[in-house]
Amino acid sequence: MTPKPPIAMLAELTHRCPLSCPYCSNPLELARMDQELDTQTWKRAFQQAADLGVLQLHLSGGEPAVRRDLPDLVSAARDAGLYTNLITSGIGLNEKRLAELDDAGLDHVQLSLQGTTPEIADEIGGYKGGFKRKMQVAEWIGKIGFPLTLNAVLHRRNLHQIERALEIALEIGARRIEVATVQFHGWALKNRDALMPTREQAQEAIRIVNKARRELKGKLVIDFVPADYHEQLPKRCMGGWGTTGLNITPDGQVLPCHAAQTIPHLVFDNVRDTSLSDIWYKGSAFNAYRGTDWMPDTCMSCDRKEIDFGGCRCQAMALTGDPNATDPVCAKSPHHIKVKHQAHEHAAKGDDVPLTYRQPPGKAAEAAE
Ligand code: FES
Repeated sequence: MTPKPPIAMLAELTHRCPLSCPYCSNPLELARMDQELDTQTWKRAFQQAADLGVLQLHLSGGEPAVRRDLPDLVSAARDAGLYTNLITSGIGLNEKRLAELDDAGLDHVQLSLQGTTPEIADEIGGYKGGFKRKMQVAEWIGKIGFPLTLNAVLHRRNLHQIERALEIALEIGARRIEVATVQFHGWALKNRDALMPTREQAQEAIRIVNKARRELKGKLVIDFVPADYHEQLPKRCMGGWGTTGLNITPDGQVLPCHAAQTIPHLVFDNVRDTSLSDIWYKGSAFNAYRGTDWMPDTCMSCDRKEIDFGGCRCQAMALTGDPNATDPVCAKSPHHIKVKHQAHEHAAKGDDVPLTYRQPPGKAAEAAE
């Protein structure tokens, strides 16, 4: 069966970033600046994406604001007919640059939040003064009138701040907040001892979000990503493999999800030399886990197989060593109990476990050794 066209594309414009968040989900080996796609190649990719049927373009990184050609890229994406969303820490943006992005036609901003106080936010981001700067950027965003989403990443060290994160979203005029419990991919896997939430924290977060959804209905949309190591049902990752979106890495590799490079047998095409249409419909990586044919018996015999599609392939790889396995977050997985125990062990480590900060491109390989 021919797949439907994708709705969204994530363009990771660069892996460079002023922050060093310990939960960074980018791969251990980052693309260097001299490997990044140039302006013209990105513009061609945006046009190909629009021709393919993509509606929303998420401009991400690293920190996309470090790309000097960002306004030019936004303008090209708008000309191609794409809705543009900038995913940023705010560091590297000032009033003038935001005005340039507005002139270029930027539609929406998604601002990350590392914590709700300078002490925690600056410690987690590894950037002194970052919280203060971010709040200033939020004010400028409000002045221009960009629709704004706040993206709060939560874990054991800041889950107690969830209610304050909701208040901040309202105070800065966000229409939506994504409350995402940290997902352990890429660099984040190094920090499970420091960041894994306890089961009690995970349950409390669900209670607070449900209450806030009732109380803030019509004022603030709340998207919630729960602490899935403590769940019984896996998430429908990426809306189902190869069904909804595609990611382009800074050096042009086209991935079905941001962590797909952790699955060793997959081969990725590059947008420098293959069209996005060919990659989406014919690429071997996109077809590897499309639909249900690849599923193990546990998933194939399950009545949720077309609801969660067996969960996250990258999580199955990270936790069982087999990307074809049922995501062990699922209670039916033979690995489920082991993962539950591991989650409790990581969560019980205490709050003085040192954070292993994200290293910039070039240093990551050294740190991994
Ligand atoms: Fe790759 Fe979930 S992150 S399938």
